[in-house]
Amino acid sequence: MFYSVRMRATLEGKHVSGQERIVKKEDLERVILELHRRPKGDWDFQTLKVERLKEPPEVIEKSLSVRSYKFSCIPLAVNFIVGILETEHGIGREITKPLLAKLQKGLNPEGGNLKGALIVDPKTGEVLNEDPTEGVRTILFDWLDREGVRDELLKRGYTERTLDALALATKNIYCGVEAEVCISDDPDYTTGYVASERLGYIRISPIKEKGSPFGGRIYFVRREKLEETLRCLRKKALLIRELSTLG
Ligand code: COA
Ligand code: AMP
Repeated sequence: MFYSVRMRATLEGKHVSGQERIVKKEDLERVILELHRRPKGDWDFQTLKVERLKEPPEVIEKSLSVRSYKFSCIPLAVNFIVGILETEHGIGREITKPLLAKLQKGLNPEGGNLKGALIVDPKTGEVLNEDPTEGVRTILFDWLDREGVRDELLKRGYTERTLDALALATKNIYCGVEAEVCISDDPDYTTGYVASERLGYIRISPIKEKGSPFGGRIYFVRREKLEETLRCLRKKALLIRELSTLG
């Protein structure tokens, strides 16, 4: 029997922390407490959801492989992403350039960040979100041996932040997202990533100005795969066994 445990904390209505796990019953109490204690800063409202999964999660053997590229300035980092999406995925720069410019300023057409991802057709550039002010959230993913993978990542010089973002990106690609671009909305964190089956997970810095509260995620999904991909992102529970040894 497996359970999804999802925690979210806010302060005066503003999101401050969110994390989730997929665990067996014997680990449930420990993990609930762990997630309860998780927010580092102040919060005044916390939700902890515990959901028994109807079927065991699918286990995939390996995450995407991780690499890091550093650039001397943000425009070079952006050009790299535009170039690699064009050469490796055929996504035209007339689509990616304006999108990345928007991503750096927040993707919500009403201003600011979306609470989830913007879904874009890689062939036409069309936004596929039912409501473009509502982002799509990826949930129900974890590592089979979270502590082991965390230790391995830290040994390789990565941070705990990579642990969650890599698991999320790995699930996205498993579900049919052709490529993902992410910029954190944390004003102190200027490393973003581009991910796909072919590229793996490429950390890119700097991708935005320090101090900027804007960020977001773009998922490139073909229109014909949209329904199936959205169902998978929201409903399919996925555990990842280990870190890819490449990179
Ligand atoms: N920023 C702003 N709003 C957020 C948010 C964020 N980062 N995370 C969640 N929310 C909002 C959702 O948009 C939703 O708003 P709504 O009620 O207005 O629709 C609300 O919080 C509840 O979200 P939901 O996904 O339904 O809640 P949940 O309790 O099932 O799961 C999370 C909450 C945060 C655990 C889950 O959404 C999630 O993001 N899981 C992945 C966490 C993770 O590892 N992320 C890695 C990032 S590097
Ligand atoms: P973060 O990496 O947590 O800084 O989040 C950066 C942005 O990614 C947020 O502003 C959201 O737009 C989006 N986001 C955060 N969590 C999710 C999620 N679970 N699924 C999809 N998009 C997300």
